[in-house]
Amino acid sequence: MTVSAQNVPVIAIDGPTASGKGTVAQRVARHLGWSVLDSGALYRLTALACMQKGVADTNETQAAQVAAGLNVQFDNGAIFLDDRDVTEAIREEPVGVFASRIAAFGAVRQALLERQRAFQQPPGLVADGRDMGTVVFPNAPLKIFLVADVAARAERRCKQLKEKGFPANLTSLMADLQARDERDRTRSNAPLVSAPDAITIDSSNLTIEETVNAVLDHWSKSGA
Ligand code: DC
Repeated sequence: MTVSAQNVPVIAIDGPTASGKGTVAQRVARHLGWSVLDSGALYRLTALACMQKGVADTNETQAAQVAAGLNVQFDNGAIFLDDRDVTEAIREEPVGVFASRIAAFGAVRQALLERQRAFQQPPGLVADGRDMGTVVFPNAPLKIFLVADVAARAERRCKQLKEKGFPANLTSLMADLQARDERDRTRSNAPLVSAPDAITIDSSNLTIEETVNAVLDHWSKSGA
């Protein structure tokens, strides 16, 4: 990374799965005219590529090789893996579960680190994930930890999946989210934790718009 890239402002938005991070990050970025990094998509892309190549979710070395060799393009909201549009495919639950498993491997995280940092380009970046404020962009001038209770998140995820035409069941989604939260929080490599200097926003009872405004408010108050 060049010195000038390091000076490009980053808003880091971390939080558990289905907390609304992705949508909030997109809207904050749009409002500021900045770009966005959906870091979860990189873990999902690695997962999908492993699934296609028959790499097991227990094989750290091979999963890290897949991560290092990913051929991906992000194009106006569409995501391509080896020139194939996988925008929808990476959102399927089995891919998310596989992603959460291989995301626990240090070698996979290391393989994706510089790829993520390369997104720090002028005029600014909104980065969403689990470790944006703690590991990938520790100098981000604004760090948000976005939480929501598990029932609210399961309902949102259920609605999202149904809108996309995927099957969804609220009870099993809730169990799935809890298991995934537990794995993301307790892994030894870059666990899902709030950075000490992060601001926590609980979006359980907030609309997307209210959450976006809260982030923008913190950004204007930060004076960065
Ligand atoms: O945000 P998401 O649900 O699309 O992320 C999919 C998985 O990837 C998630 O279960 C944990 C992992 N992940 C991670 O470990 N670190 C990140 N910065 C982003 C995602």
